[in-house]
Amino acid sequence: MILKNRVAIVTGAGSGIGQAGAMIMAKEGAHVAVADRSAPGAAETVSMIRDAGGSAESLILDVTDDISLEDGIASVLKRHGRIDILHNHAGAQIAGDLEQVEVEGFDRSWSLNVRAHFMAARFVMPAMKAQGSGVILNTSSSSGVLYDREMIAYTTTKHAVIAMTRQMAGDYARFGIRVNAVCPGWVDTPFNGPFITQMGGRDAIEAYVREKVPMGRWAQVEEIAESILFLVSDRSSYMTGQILVVDGGEAVV
Ligand SMILES: NC(=O)c1ccc[n+]([C@@H]2O[C@H](COP(=O)([O-])OP(=O)(O)OC[C@H]3O[C@@H](n4cnc5c(N)ncnc54)[C@H](O)[C@@H]3O)[C@@H](O)[C@H]2O)c1
Repeated sequence: MILKNRVAIVTGAGSGIGQAGAMIMAKEGAHVAVADRSAPGAAETVSMIRDAGGSAESLILDVTDDISLEDGIASVLKRHGRIDILHNHAGAQIAGDLEQVEVEGFDRSWSLNVRAHFMAARFVMPAMKAQGSGVILNTSSSSGVLYDREMIAYTTTKHAVIAMTRQMAGDYARFGIRVNAVCPGWVDTPFNGPFITQMGGRDAIEAYVREKVPMGRWAQVEEIAESILFLVSDRSSYMTGQILVVDGGEAVV
């Protein structure tokens, strides 16, 4: 098991890609703090991990609430004495172009997709520096390397995640801390609701994925989880500041 005795915090781990990432980390021996604002979602992930013989705990919090986030991270540190992995995954899509998107929606995107990653990294950093090791993984998106039509809040924030990842990686490599980003393409989770509505429904999105993704299909959450595992484990021990795009080839064409 390549993550034996490691302590991981995964935000947005109560569903979708975050859940699959939490599962694969636990399968490889990590204790996973499943951080999510949805108590049922977090509970589901924790029981899936425990049923599979792994170790996990729920951390019910809204990552945009600085005090809850700081307290939650501090509680994990207090219980386990270390934090080896932070996967900043919780994020949301708010549709609209410059004139359509509500300003409040733009602010909410920034707060969740960028600022919460920044704050969580800031809260774990003293422990990682003291340990002389640690891994931070930020979830960006293929929309962090491409531009979607009429999705200004989402693409702006996901591009910003990449800039922040590279900056943090350069600043903290000397402390033994690696920082990378994963950019998933189309994964069929509840997350895509706003885009599907904007596109005009299920048939439209299925046609879009067939047409736009060279591999012609959605990714399974498990396929993204394999890349997450690579980036949070010693398998990527000489990689930092890198952006791993896992999108069936969409960014290539
Ligand atoms: N699904 C995709 O196609 C896709 C593609 C590229 C990138 N992503 C990225 O993956 C992340 C989530 O996608 P998913 O497919 O796993 O979504 P999902 O909807 O399946 O899960 C998101 C989870 O995040 C939690 N969450 C949302 N806001 C939160 C908050 N403020 N505090 C704590 N928890 C919160 C939700 O409760 C939910 O459990 C986002 O960062 C998104 O940009 C997804």
